[in-house]
Amino acid sequence: MNALNRFWHPLTTSDKVVEQPRRFTLLDDYVVAYRDADGVAAFRDLCIHRGAALSLGWVRDGKLVCPYHGWQYDRSGACVRIPSRPADAPIPPSAKAFRYHVQERYGLVWVAIADPQYGVPDFPGDIFDLPEWKSFMSYNEVWTTSASRAVENFMDFSHFPYVHEGLLGTEDNAEIAPYTVEKREDGLHYWLEQEEPSDLYGADGTQLVRYEYTLVVPFTIHLKKIELGTGRETFITQFTSPQTATTTELFVYIVRNHSHDEPDSKFGDFTNKIMEQDRVIVQSQRPENLPASLREELHIKVPDAASLLYRQRLAALASVEVDGPYGA
Ligand code: FES
Ligand code: CO
Repeated sequence: MNALNRFWHPLTTSDKVVEQPRRFTLLDDYVVAYRDADGVAAFRDLCIHRGAALSLGWVRDGKLVCPYHGWQYDRSGACVRIPSRPADAPIPPSAKAFRYHVQERYGLVWVAIADPQYGVPDFPGDIFDLPEWKSFMSYNEVWTTSASRAVENFMDFSHFPYVHEGLLGTEDNAEIAPYTVEKREDGLHYWLEQEEPSDLYGADGTQLVRYEYTLVVPFTIHLKKIELGTGRETFITQFTSPQTATTTELFVYIVRNHSHDEPDSKFGDFTNKIMEQDRVIVQSQRPENLPASLREELHIKVPDAASLLYRQRLAALASVEVDGPYGA
């Protein structure tokens, strides 16, 4: 089984999961999700009887009804009624929908296909719900690339002088000084300082900024920016939904401990412009998925240190065989 099944992944934004079952895509398969008084339920979008899409069905009395022959599934996934059989006829125990783990966090619906190994990724310092921090989702787009390419791009800063010239870097300052990458059980952590020429700091503004990156495997990346002049801190966090090998939904949040009175758009417009600059490059990368072998692309010693470790972590995950269908 795919080791990625054992992680929580963002499926969609909470507002998109409604009473009527809807189809979503995750890890190259379809998911059906709906909402009722007991919250969100999610299943593989497939009826065990004849393979019809449960997302074409409906919810009645808390049961998900298949649109083809009307089998009814409860929230645990058990089939509790086969209408073409007498009401008291036994139901085969294998008549089940594949129920997925589901929870809501940060205004997103998160799904784990098999028993999850870790929780939904936290923000460093658990700042998200603290009143000193103001948060909003700034960017939500589907890119035609893999989740790993989209994450690796977010981790990478040696492209700033080229892709984000004048915003995050300048060509005369392209050299990357050695930096340390700390390996953690759930990911990587690394940091550096750089002069940022951002127009967020006024017409001729530049600032010395400390960047602290926290990667949570497989597809969450936090960038904490600390403006060393003012002490203001801003997280830019990308939660990444691996829909298919070549389509990926990005949810980018900005969480700041300053400027609460200023419009979110002041920060969002800047970040979204950066994301769209990245999108052009990332969607051009081939293969869309990271190459399975590290030898297939060329890694440069200092600037690619973090991304090389990321690839190694993903490769290690891919080599882990996990027990049987849909977890233990
Ligand atoms: Fe679902 Fe027959 S395919 S009830
Ligand atoms: Co970029």
